Amino acid sequence: MPIRTDPDRRLVALDTDATTYAFAVDPAGLLRHLYWGPRLDRLADVEAPALWEVSTNDSVAEITHEEYPIHGGLRFKETALAVRFEDGSRGARLVVTGIAVDAEAQEVVVALLDAPRGLTVQVHYRVLPGLDLIERWAVVRNEPSEAGREAGVIAVTAAASAQFHVPRAGLTLRNVFGHWGAEQQPFTQQVGPAALVLESRRGISSHHHNPYVVLDADASEDAGEVWCAALAWSGNFRATVAQTPYGDTLVQLGLNPWDAEVTLAPGESLTTPRVVAGYTAQGLTGISHHLHAYGHGLLDPRPRPVLYNSWEATGFEVDLEGQLALAQRAAGIGVELFVMDDGWFGRRSSIDDGLGDWWVDPGAFPDGLGPLIAQVHELGMDFGLWVEPEMVNPASDLYAKHPDWIYRDQVHDPDTARGQYVLDLTRPEVQEHLFAVLDLLLRENDIAYLKWDANRPMSAVGAHRDAHRAHIEALYTLVTRLKGTHPGVMIEACASGGGRIDLGALGVFDDVWTSDNTDAADRLVMQRAYSLIYPAKAMRAWITESPNFLSQRSIPLDFRARSAMMGTLGVGTDLMRADDAELKALAAHIATYKRLRPTIQDGRVYRLDNETGNDYQFTGYVREDRGQALLFAFLQASRVGHRKPTVRLRGLDPAATYRYAVNGVPHEHSGAYLMGHGVPLWLMGDYDSALVEFDRT
Ligand code: GLA
Repeated sequence: MPIRTDPDRRLVALDTDATTYAFAVDPAGLLRHLYWGPRLDRLADVEAPALWEVSTNDSVAEITHEEYPIHGGLRFKETALAVRFEDGSRGARLVVTGIAVDAEAQEVVVALLDAPRGLTVQVHYRVLPGLDLIERWAVVRNEPSEAGREAGVIAVTAAASAQFHVPRAGLTLRNVFGHWGAEQQPFTQQVGPAALVLESRRGISSHHHNPYVVLDADASEDAGEVWCAALAWSGNFRATVAQTPYGDTLVQLGLNPWDAEVTLAPGESLTTPRVVAGYTAQGLTGISHHLHAYGHGLLDPRPRPVLYNSWEATGFEVDLEGQLALAQRAAGIGVELFVMDDGWFGRRSSIDDGLGDWWVDPGAFPDGLGPLIAQVHELGMDFGLWVEPEMVNPASDLYAKHPDWIYRDQVHDPDTARGQYVLDLTRPEVQEHLFAVLDLLLRENDIAYLKWDANRPMSAVGAHRDAHRAHIEALYTLVTRLKGTHPGVMIEACASGGGRIDLGALGVFDDVWTSDNTDAADRLVMQRAYSLIYPAKAMRAWITESPNFLSQRSIPLDFRARSAMMGTLGVGTDLMRADDAELKALAAHIATYKRLRPTIQDGRVYRLDNETGNDYQFTGYVREDRGQALLFAFLQASRVGHRKPTVRLRGLDPAATYRYAVNGVPHEHSGAYLMGHGVPLWLMGDYDSALVEFDRT
């Protein structure tokens, strides 16, 4: 049973295959965290020692590891919840009133109450035993109190999804930083007594940080203790990590309280997004594999098609003839899905017009999209389309008709960014309108795939204090409704590149655009960081031109192709400028990708060590049930003292024998040898690469 209880001690243990997470209710009614680590079979080991204040300045409430503390009383630490009551006072006192276990759903709900105020909180836990993860979230409710007193309106000024206590100090925090075109740059930072904050305030999970916390104590890829918490949310978030003065590390993750307030009338409630959390002693790869399995559970299991995207080739200059010519070449190299990007709708000619007018531009497509789609189908491909539904340009029919549909305050001019405004998705009429136009687009045209973009942050949301949260809820509702009505359609999440890479997006969308930076060498850095949390199955990567439009770097095609093949493969090259040799080479890489796709998209990813002093990157993909493993090897630049690397694989069956070829020379070795000794490679010069296939004999 994944949930064990000790009713006498009001103690609960959540067991996964390899971990235990335990908490209990203190006699004072506090919900105390007790244990998070390797699986414990003996529940009696988990103790809840009596609490005493360290000093009058270190109260019991302050030093207790609470699961979901609320602002109020002698608490000066980070609290998960903060409210303001109608009379203006802020402090609340929550006591546990009950613990409900739903064995079938593998859920525990702890109920807490501030009786005089009629405020209830449900702290939810769900155990995912096989994944070694638990989910947590909270429901905050304004409930007229038992005493019959009306609570009045309650303003929720902060509501995290969960608070955690990692029983260590001196940990290392891992996350990513960046900006447009430079997302997913990994960093580590030592956690100390000053709190570290990762957040987004932009209405998207953002290019700047990512909504997760990974903490480790000197872990390597395959060994060492790691704790993680990742938020399923595509909007404003805040993660706080701090070493407490009492020797442990506090982690809080949830909605960002910045510029936000949720008002609850009596009977109303707020449900926070879910956070998924886990512990492993198997190092960073261990935590990645658990999270990848979780991500796969969220995603549509269908294979992701090899797509062509027109953006880097034709920009806003799209018309029937040009797209048809590209489609013919795309089909010729084995592309399965032709996606027409920006420029096909309204009076769109640049970033400054057309958004909001989701009708086909008659200048570019005199007979609508029908003829293009028919040809694309005839060529044996599916058809996909770019949309940016949450936005509107001032120069559009939609804005002329509904200038009040955007976020703005009443006195200042609204901000434009990329020449556009954000539609107020929280208004039911805006949601209805967007559903109607997108539904019509999908009904009138045989479209298999949408690339759903969002190219600017939210700002100046006016009087709507809950806009950032409500916008994302509305987005999820809209996308889910659209997919429910058109179940075959896959939708890619994009926000100016990788501004919406998060587990919330994975729960609703099918694919994620990783970055507008398509430089193959930059992508290796980003993709490796992405793989810490997210599975390759939703990591869109395109082969694009050389020199790259952004980095101006020239990289040979094999390197560019193999870099893009590590995720869900696409092509963004201007195929009209490609010569026969390049088209042939692209076709060969696409054919290889299709053959290896089940291992790449659904296998296990291993970030392999580079034991040389050179600029190598090695990654393994293993699909045990197919008896297949892959090694992607890249050398960016050969340096002084360059020697031949021997790459040690991971995740193979030590007892099995594998056949493989390096530079056309066949080899056969046991898994034990390939993992213990490794594969000798010989990459030379700049931007060399190899893709080695290992097949179990
Ligand atoms: C964003 C996306 C790009 C492309 C353009 C179109 O920048 O990230 O991939 O779709 O918009 O305007």
